[in-house]
Parts: sequence; structure tokens; C-alpha cells
Amino acid sequence: FARTALTTAIAGVALASTSLTALAAQTITVGHTTSDNSHYSVGVDAFKKTLEELSGGEFTVEEHPSGALGGERAMIEGLQIGTIDTVITSTGPLGNFVPETYVLDLPFLFADYDQARCVLDGEIGQELLDKVGQNNLVGLAWTENGFRHLTNSLRDVKTPEDASGLKIRTMENQMHMAAFEEMDVHPTPMAFPELFTALQQGTVDGQENPVSVILTSNLWEVQDHMTLTGHVYSPAVMLASPVLWNSLSEEQQGWFTQAAKAGAEATRAEVSRLETEGVKELKDKGMTVVENVDKSQFQDAVEPSYSVYTDQYGSEMLDKIRNSE
Ligand code: PAF
Repeated sequence: FARTALTTAIAGVALASTSLTALAAQTITVGHTTSDNSHYSVGVDAFKKTLEELSGGEFTVEEHPSGALGGERAMIEGLQIGTIDTVITSTGPLGNFVPETYVLDLPFLFADYDQARCVLDGEIGQELLDKVGQNNLVGLAWTENGFRHLTNSLRDVKTPEDASGLKIRTMENQMHMAAFEEMDVHPTPMAFPELFTALQQGTVDGQENPVSVILTSNLWEVQDHMTLTGHVYSPAVMLASPVLWNSLSEEQQGWFTQAAKAGAEATRAEVSRLETEGVKELKDKGMTVVENVDKSQFQDAVEPSYSVYTDQYGSEMLDKIRNSE
């Protein structure tokens, strides 16, 4: 009898402490606009696992994918007023809040994934994350969206001339819009959650995004032609709300930063995987893919758009990035 009573008592204590932990766990929201099988979602899984482990269950993470909390611009505003805890966003709309990050959105700036990741993980990346921190946002870690490629519903695009006249949805980013204007494309800025319907209804002819997005957001259902232009590297960043951040101890802030880095690593691995495997899948799904693109033709066409950046912000950061090659 004594043994049974003791076992029951131990079980009771264990149960009580479990429910206390459960009660005490603070739920952290993570918003992003891609689907729950996307590269961002893979990153959220790693962020969640790492944060829950490091904090011993003090924090738990709830993912809100597919633009459930709004488009990227709206979510960044949500961070600033504290209605969302954390967000994974491309830098597309970030320049509207932190103009110093516009430099990252210049076309053909980075030669490949290695260079882009190295710059973002180094001094330049840290300097830009610090700028993010001066604008009522907290930059936890650089993560990744990937090199963007052009898709459309009308024709194969092999040269910039083939793209001329197309109506292309762009991100709400003046550097991207300027580059497309140089190609005589009509850029139509739009939040991502509106894109699928706009393509379906023919409001726009095309869009541009990394393979991972085209695949996991099912854009192949409404786009027949893809060209591997890789015209711009699209960085992403994990941001936190200053309201959440200021409520955390230094130790807790360290857990968040570490967890965000784990998320970024997982996301980058998924982007790399889909960059090759994804193209094959898109072909299997019926897309025509122009693979051997003479990128120098596209690069020459968009080159004059650099002045939109340099006229406003000078060329210091641009030179730093170029010299890091
Ligand atoms: O096209 C965009 O807006 C972005 O690339 C996306 C898909 C929201 C991912 O950050």
C-alpha cells in the first residue's frame, strides 16, 4: 500500500509540474507568407525545436503560414506595434522601413549563394541587422528566400526583348520595379497573398520568385513558362517585435537569436535542395523551363536601374559588397 501511495504521489507531482510548465509556457507567434511546406516553414520547425529546447519549454512556437497574418509589409507593421511576435520576411518590403537594406535588392549584385550567404553572415550583414534595430524592429538573423526567376503565362522568355511588354507582379520594392522598367516590362507591385488570384484572373501576366516559392505556392498551376534568370538574390530576415524583445531577459534574447540562426540554416539547406530538385518537379508538372539563359543580356538591360539606388544612398555600401567578392 505504501508503495502504491508513493507512486501515486510521485505521479501527482510530475503531473503538477508538467501542467505548471505548460501553464507557464509563453506562446510565440511566427508569421510568414509562404505555405506550410515551404523553405520558410522548414525554418520555423528548426526555430521552434531549438527555442523550445534551449528554454526548457519556457517558450512554445505557433506558426502562422500562408499570409494568415497579412502580407509582408503588413506583418512588419504588426511587429512595430507588437501585435505579432516574430516574422520571416523577404527584404522586398523591408527597404520601406530600413532604407539601408535596399542595397541587397539590386539586380545581379550577388554572383551565387556562397557569396550572398558569406556577406550576410559577415560584418556587412551585422551592420545591416544593426540598422534594422534602429528602426523599431529587431533583426534576429538573416535567412533566405533565394535567387528569383521569371515566370509568365504567355511565352518563353529567352532574352530581355522577349519580356518586353509583359505585365509582371513585383514586390513592393523600388529597386525591383526600376530594374523591370529598364526591361520595358510593366511592373505591378502587389502583396504576395493577392498574387495567385491576380495570375489566375490575368490581372498580371507573370511574376518572379525563387523555385521554392513557385513550387510550394502552386504558381505552376497558373504559369506555363519559367526562365531561370536568377536576376536578383532575395534575402530574407527573421524579425522580432521590439515589444516582445524588451520583455525578455538577456539570456532569453540569446535563445531567440540562436534559434533564429538554426532556422536560417535549415531554410538555406531547403532552398539549395529545391533550386535543383524543384526545377525538375516544375517540369514534371508541365512548366516549360528556359534553363540556359544568357544572363549578361539581362544584366546589361537592368544596369541603368542602379542609379535609383546610388542617387539616393551613394555607393559606399554597394562598393563594400562588391569588394567582398
Ligand atoms: O514574392 C514575394 O513577395 C516574396 O518572395 C515571398 C513569396 C512573400 C517570400 O518572401
